[in-house]
Amino acid sequence: MCERVEESDSEGNTLKTKKYEGKLYVSIIPGNIKDHFESLQQMEVRKDDTFILSYPKSGTHWVFTIASMLRTGNSAYIGSPHFLDYNDVDYLNKLPSPRLLASHMTFDRLPLQVREGKGKVFVVSRNPKDVAVSLYTFLMKLTVSDFSGTWEGFLKFYMEGKMMYGSWFDTFFDWENIKDTYSGGNIMYLVYEDLKQDLFHNITKMASFLGVTHDKSFLEEVTERCTFKTMVKTIMQEIKPQEQEYIKKVSEEKKLPIYRKGEVGDWKNHFTVAQNETFDRLYEEQMRDSKFKFRFE
Ligand code: A3P
Repeated sequence: MCERVEESDSEGNTLKTKKYEGKLYVSIIPGNIKDHFESLQQMEVRKDDTFILSYPKSGTHWVFTIASMLRTGNSAYIGSPHFLDYNDVDYLNKLPSPRLLASHMTFDRLPLQVREGKGKVFVVSRNPKDVAVSLYTFLMKLTVSDFSGTWEGFLKFYMEGKMMYGSWFDTFFDWENIKDTYSGGNIMYLVYEDLKQDLFHNITKMASFLGVTHDKSFLEEVTERCTFKTMVKTIMQEIKPQEQEYIKKVSEEKKLPIYRKGEVGDWKNHFTVAQNETFDRLYEEQMRDSKFKFRFE
């Protein structure tokens, strides 16, 4: 069973989460978490299911949008993904194929059949400084948020791993471990900064991983439709009215809170020199055994 946890400090920064088996999750995960996670384990997976997995704010919606266009052969925007985390399995079972399902959980929480090689999985990661800024600014835009407080307070919690979905570093190493040990062949690893650097190249690789065939002009069209500039300009006009209503309810800004800046290195506009030095020390220490180098600009 999960317990509701409220972390707070002397400056009034507060994080409300649900804790299950030692890890913190967002409060909106239904019920006691245990039942939901157990039913996810048993969920029936279809051959053409696509899963998009990430630590929050790493580009989940971006990869989902690209994958949905590649899977359906249609460059229409379909809004936000259905998350395994927040939807009952009965509901997920009724969704038409091809399903594109997202999650911020790690591999061990995915349906057993995925872990046996069924369906396709994209894992996307992003440098932890831009993730921190994106997550904090996102939480501040929500009408009801699990965190309240300052950027300074948020960063302290984030660096201590007191965060929904746990520490960024733990998540990174969970996936590094899967890279080394899992041989199912149905996972493709993507990096936000690489997508920014060469979107067309990554989209082409994603299509071949999914096993879908599209001509160059469609892949170019997907690339154009999935640049930040195009998405931010058109997505709200093109998604379903009911989804627009939902967005207006959850976001203070009354617009899709996901699409903010879409840049590499925006952290420089938020971290103070002292915060950056402290973060760099933590990063060096935590990543000392990893060969992976994130790009921060
Ligand atoms: P910023 O807040 O830094 O702008 P997620 O979907 O995992 O919640 O991630 C949201 C982040 O991905 C946001 O980052 C958002 O702007 C960024 N993003 C979404 N679509 C993008 C795109 N087409 N190009 C670049 N970044 C994108």
